[in-house]
Amino acid sequence: MSRYSHYASKEKNNEKKVNLEKLAAKPINKIRNLIDKRRELHVPPEKSLSNILPGYEENIITMRDVKIAYKRGMNERVVVDNLNLDIKRGEIFGLVGESGSGKTTVGRTIMRIIPIKSGEIRYNGHLISGKIPSLRKRELKTKIQMIFQDPSASLNERANIDYIVSEGIRAFHMFGSEEERLQKVESMMAQVGLRPEHLKRYPHEFSGGQRQRIGIARCMIMNPEIVVADEPISALDVSIRAQVLNLIKDFQVKNNMTVLFIAHDLSVVKYISDRIGVIYDGRLVELANADRLFAMPLHPYTKSLLSAVPIPDPREEKTKKIISYNPMMHHYRYDDLPQFYEVEPGHFVRANKSELEDYKKIIKKEQKGENK
Ligand SMILES: Nc1ncnc2c1ncn2[C@@H]1O[C@H](COP(=O)(O)OP(=O)(O)OP(=O)(O)O)[C@@H](O)[C@H]1O
Ligand SMILES: [Mg+2]
Repeated sequence: MSRYSHYASKEKNNEKKVNLEKLAAKPINKIRNLIDKRRELHVPPEKSLSNILPGYEENIITMRDVKIAYKRGMNERVVVDNLNLDIKRGEIFGLVGESGSGKTTVGRTIMRIIPIKSGEIRYNGHLISGKIPSLRKRELKTKIQMIFQDPSASLNERANIDYIVSEGIRAFHMFGSEEERLQKVESMMAQVGLRPEHLKRYPHEFSGGQRQRIGIARCMIMNPEIVVADEPISALDVSIRAQVLNLIKDFQVKNNMTVLFIAHDLSVVKYISDRIGVIYDGRLVELANADRLFAMPLHPYTKSLLSAVPIPDPREEKTKKIISYNPMMHHYRYDDLPQFYEVEPGHFVRANKSELEDYKKIIKKEQKGENK
């Protein structure tokens, strides 16, 4: 049964019309949890909430034709090119690719740490790339937060945990009194599974997993709208990875946050993501719902990443074949260069025209199989 099949009920739609009007009358910044509201109000997924709620953007982040280059002296190296990416409000978007493919670079440009060379990035419909008003820059510093890969490198070793966790709320005056600040910090510590007495300690007195919890507390205390989680579990011991992953997921659900989850391992993002984008050498090669990407990978690079995912059955794991990917295999010609096509609703793949035809055939075949 489709996830949205309950929207089909016409009666329910009519019944909820009045509520939609009421909702539209509210100021846009007061409307929280819109993704849940969509379900609650039985708005079908194909109907954009922006038609109903003026000023509402379905995509919290839109990146259009983004090119990012690093300069070294007189030279310039383009590391991300022609990136078109929409991150939907309230989703966990997994960005996967091998080392050096440009994942961190993409995350950092959203945070405005790295400037873009051309294209544009929008947040809630407002331009956030290039020159922007200082008020918006300030807003972004609170609304978009990052969780880093290496918890030891990202925490100031000379500061105690109380200082580290409250640094952001102090810089942006997000509390009234000292009492309120302490209450916020202690509540955040409890939410990440740490105790109030830990506040007086220093980062070196904690384990890797605990340090990442401190990093998460420092991020979440700002109550961000978007979190860029850059390989937040890869530096951690395997035994505690799931706990940290669950913690991030819990915050996402509780606060209705949007997460850009960066990883090089597809098995990690499958568990946590709603949609997954696969990036190779600075270009998106495939994008689909997490389940769909696993069920119907089309691009050879996605297939190679999938073949590397560990299988829980030791016998199968022993006999599995790892597929390698060579970008030269495509034989792209200058008169038939690849583009990012939507092969089926919500499923995009980088292909030239003949590859696109092949991919479409694969999907048609699958549909026929299902109909039989
Ligand atoms: N500050 C920098 N100056 C110059 N080149 C850089 C800089 N940072 C990254 N690069 C280059 O940009 C490319 C993309 O790097 P990036 O860190 O975004 O990759 P990544 O996908 O995050 O890799 P990893 O999985 O190893 O973290 C790499 O080729 C890297 O060498
Ligand atoms: Mg990286």
